[in-house]
Amino acid sequence: MVISEVAKKWGHEQVVFCYDAETGLQAIIAIHDTTLGPALGGCRFWNYASEDEAIFDVLRLSRGMTYKSAVAGLSLGGGKSVIMGDPKKLKSPLLFQRFGRFVQSLNGRYITAEDVNMGEEDIGHISKETAYVTGKSMQEGGSGNPSPVTAYGVFQGIKACLQFKNENTNLKGISVAVQGIGSVGANLCEMLHEHGAKLYISDINQAALEKLQKSFGAKVVALDEIHKQEVDIYAPCALGAILNDDTIPEIKASIIAGAANNQLLDEKKHMQMLDERQIIYAPDYVINAGGIINVSHELKGFDEAAAKADAGKIYDSLLKIFKESKNKKISTLEASGAYAESIISEHKKRGDKKLLNTYDNQDWISPAHSNR
Ligand SMILES: NC(=O)c1ccc[n+]([C@@H]2O[C@H](COP(=O)([O-])OP(=O)(O)OC[C@H]3O[C@@H](n4cnc5c(N)ncnc54)[C@H](O)[C@@H]3O)[C@@H](O)[C@H]2O)c1
Repeated sequence: MVISEVAKKWGHEQVVFCYDAETGLQAIIAIHDTTLGPALGGCRFWNYASEDEAIFDVLRLSRGMTYKSAVAGLSLGGGKSVIMGDPKKLKSPLLFQRFGRFVQSLNGRYITAEDVNMGEEDIGHISKETAYVTGKSMQEGGSGNPSPVTAYGVFQGIKACLQFKNENTNLKGISVAVQGIGSVGANLCEMLHEHGAKLYISDINQAALEKLQKSFGAKVVALDEIHKQEVDIYAPCALGAILNDDTIPEIKASIIAGAANNQLLDEKKHMQMLDERQIIYAPDYVINAGGIINVSHELKGFDEAAAKADAGKIYDSLLKIFKESKNKKISTLEASGAYAESIISEHKKRGDKKLLNTYDNQDWISPAHSNR
């Protein structure tokens, strides 16, 4: 792969390779776009089969973050980083500290956070070397687990789907099949139950299933049956790639709205299959933006109520996207991409340089590090 060609095609600003001989750290930081602000995106620790695979992943994911933050209305750009190697063998406090030094060297153009195979403890080590890290534990003055705010955003997104389809947001008697009742799924079930929805749930965790069955009268469904339920809404909150050739023809819900990342196995093909079946699809990166909204609030000093209020705006963004998709006869995925691009190009047109990067925007530095 010729990196500069891919970066040029997708519009990446900067790709940084990091190597530390002492700890074996090999990482890549990709900054896709800083038009709206510093590039925020998590760090993924993954044992890639090749360097090419890692590069492709970080370029793809960082570009996704630009769109996610733009649609979420955040003054943030898109970035991502990957640490290459087996986390079980390589993880050490020193490795994360060295990674933190590389992040710091970018002077706030990139802000890191948790992603796959990374935990609060690892973030704590990174934060010893850089101010540009978010998603810290509450004990360390951070925002902690983002799942309740993510679930709230999904809940608001579900209401936007209902408003678009039924012209009201009433959940009483509406049936929802929730796939995965982990941190986000369980919180979502609670809100849906409180508002009178009927729940169908599946998970590999029997204890969690029993708990929700008891508390909310949820009907437990087999793992490979959840997407086939005769329900109004299918809410994937577990795995990616669950919208594919096999599942789409079996879905009976007319709305798909859930937290899972990368729900469409093949974006173009499977979006088209959903459109042909006239299923309303809430693009995953729009409806699950509560997570990034939550960590973005940590940068200003965390206030859960304010984070929740911002996650509530997912309702308006999704309605806008659905209306645009209907008016222009394009998919909801195309409409959300166009919406993100319009926000970025508007900002460029206005020539608003204030948030171009953090050199002149010290507000982004968390209070704990403001004296660095
Ligand atoms: N946590 C967040 O703030 C956040 C933000 C954005 C996106 N997401 C995405 O939302 C999804 C859920 O996140 P989470 O934090 O709740 O994760 P989690 O690990 O807490 O929950 C996932 C649940 O899915 C269950 N599961 C695993 N395999 C399953 C299967 N085959 N069928 C049904 N259930 C299965 C697990 O047992 C677990 O209970 C993930 O795709 C995540 O990437 C989460």
